[in-house]
Amino acid sequence: MAEPLIPRPDGPAESADHPEPAATAPVLEISGLDVRYGQSHVLQGVDLIVNRRPLSLIGRNGMGKSTLCNAITGLVPAFGGSVKLHGHELVGLKPHEIARSGIGYVPQGRRVFASLSVEEHLRMVARRGGGGWTIKKIYELFPSLQARRRNGGTQLSGGEQQMLAIARALLLNPRLLIMDEPSEGLAPIVVEHMIGTLHNLAREGVALLLVEQNLGVATSVSERIAIMVTGTIALETTSAELASDEATQRRYLGVSTHIERIDTPAAPAPST
Ligand SMILES: Nc1ncnc2c1ncn2[C@@H]1O[C@H](COP(=O)(O)OP(=O)(O)OP(=O)(O)O)[C@@H](O)[C@H]1O
Ligand SMILES: [Mg+2]
Repeated sequence: MAEPLIPRPDGPAESADHPEPAATAPVLEISGLDVRYGQSHVLQGVDLIVNRRPLSLIGRNGMGKSTLCNAITGLVPAFGGSVKLHGHELVGLKPHEIARSGIGYVPQGRRVFASLSVEEHLRMVARRGGGGWTIKKIYELFPSLQARRRNGGTQLSGGEQQMLAIARALLLNPRLLIMDEPSEGLAPIVVEHMIGTLHNLAREGVALLLVEQNLGVATSVSERIAIMVTGTIALETTSAELASDEATQRRYLGVSTHIERIDTPAAPAPST
């Protein structure tokens, strides 16, 4: 496999010579990001910083959340602006180069292949002999995927498909994981398991940008919340403030919801 375009730290994350970067140091810095689909100016100068503490991005349908994810990961071209991963510009790189640089992406709708088994999906992205995430660790994290390893992608339940989509992203050993509406269509118990998994990943130092429609999930996963309105970040706030502010919920999300934090026991972390 080719060397990553953006240098990645090797070896242990923490040592006396290489202290762990502060949790608030920027991992991803988006500034003035513009995206157009023809005449339609969908992202209009997005400014957003993701650090090592999880960040949730919420907003009504059609506001540009998925477009932002696709622009970060190079799947749609930026018309202007900048996206930097640990200070290195990503705009202009190809999607596979951005993935290789350390951004794992779980797109909206999950997109697993009917003709590939679970194991084949995982083998497609697993690095041979590399450190970090391996198929063995993935099966420890998601035992039900191991049980279904010979099943085709679309024979899986919605929750299993989501686990497979997360697994594929983790096998790239991402520094930043971007997930676009992962709770969509999942049963509450599966959502709880997913939240536990996300807490564990955050503890392991994986930065997380979570796009959510479900306010309960967003506020359970992250302390910081950004709200997107017609292609810009209209407000950055905290989960606690948003949960107690029905007027803001109504103003930006069109609903005022009784938000219940979903507190979950942490899912078992994979052994290292
Ligand atoms: N490929 C495309 N070509 C043209 N317009 C598009 C394309 N993809 C999205 N759009 C438009 O861009 C706007 C933003 O869409 P986007 O999918 O980013 O919103 P979203 O916030 O993710 O919505 P949702 O919550 O429904 O997933 C919408 O008006 C959508 O119709
Ligand atoms: Mg979307």
